[in-house]
Amino acid sequence: MSKFLILFGNTTLLSRLEFEATYPNFFLEKLDEHLFIFECESAEAQDMMAILGGTVKLFEVVKEFNNTIEDKEFIEEIVALLLSQSNEPYFNLTQIGKGQRNVSNSDIKDLIKENGKKSRYFSSNPSESALLSHKSKATELLSYNLIEDSKILLAQIKGVQDIDDWTNRDRNKPYADRKKGMLPPKVARMMVNAALGLWQQKNTGKPLVYDPFCGTGTVLLEAGMRNLNLYGSDIDQQAVFGARDNLAWFKEEYKVDVESKVFYMDASHINPEEFASKVDLIVTEPFLGKQTPRDNELANVFKGLEKMYLGSFKSFASILNEGAIVAIVFPRVQLEKRTYSLDSLIDKLKAKGYNLLVDPVIYAREGARVARQICLFGFSRKENNT
Ligand SMILES: C[S@@+](CC[C@H](N)C(=O)[O-])C[C@H]1O[C@@H](n2cnc3c(N)ncnc32)[C@H](O)[C@@H]1O
Repeated sequence: MSKFLILFGNTTLLSRLEFEATYPNFFLEKLDEHLFIFECESAEAQDMMAILGGTVKLFEVVKEFNNTIEDKEFIEEIVALLLSQSNEPYFNLTQIGKGQRNVSNSDIKDLIKENGKKSRYFSSNPSESALLSHKSKATELLSYNLIEDSKILLAQIKGVQDIDDWTNRDRNKPYADRKKGMLPPKVARMMVNAALGLWQQKNTGKPLVYDPFCGTGTVLLEAGMRNLNLYGSDIDQQAVFGARDNLAWFKEEYKVDVESKVFYMDASHINPEEFASKVDLIVTEPFLGKQTPRDNELANVFKGLEKMYLGSFKSFASILNEGAIVAIVFPRVQLEKRTYSLDSLIDKLKAKGYNLLVDPVIYAREGARVARQICLFGFSRKENNT
């Protein structure tokens, strides 16, 4: 078993939900705002960065010291580690948390020089340097003082989010519709993974994913990255053509061979005949109302949305498998004195067989008026059905 430090992006709650659903056997312990620790076999961590959407970096603990270690000795240990891996290290040491050492990158460089070797370093906030470490294959080190255990953990980078790849799917697909609002691919991936992980805890095999408000197909592409079979539909014929184009581009670009079908459909009147088999996962971001509603419009907007959401959930039941998972975005607007949300829908949905599985997580872009609240439901006909 090895210890790993995992650095989540700024959507920590959602990143954590994604991780815990995907890896239910690994126990996460919080160290800092975005930094967590867990233990697993080294091989089990191999594919993590390719799977997770909400993780920026993964570090493996390579040394542990008693935290009474002198700064000088600490530097010597770091230098020995770097020189054991490279004749000309390119590195960065970041310390996170309390009890930090008075040790800088230039102290490390100086000692490497005393050893007759050249080195270079870069300094930056670890969550900001993902592109740099990914491209340069730099040795990024992170130290964390586990004060209660009197230990310092020294961890080395094991995987970095491939930012270019995320940007490729976000920006280079042929069809975009920024006016309607597209889900960021990382958020779509986190939703897919959370739903898939929860489903896999009780089911085996390859689930069928459906996005009934597919828009440009962001969710479908991210579910395709997980090699799932895909159905998508939309009430806007242009989105249907666009999502088809995006899927064709995606399959070619990523050499992914999954079944997919995108068609025109009103999500509140789903025709089960379009489906060759029942659906295991719905992952979707429905229409969230206007992007910048005025305060005096909000009560009406949310009334209309509640009706549309309820109608859609009723209609989902006709195509869902027993034990299906629904990961769905609810809109939420926070004013100084009032919050508008669809929280009241959650109880009504229970009566239709949809049980909330985890506390909803809010994802809000800076400056956005309408925040996204991500809800995960388990579906069962056996309980409380209409
Ligand atoms: C917020 S967008 C989804 C964006 C998508 N997640 C993406 O990243 O491109 C909502 C989509 O729902 C569609 N829509 C609205 N009402 C619908 C309905 N009743 N049935 C099906 N689709 C609907 C809209 O045409 C729009 O494409």
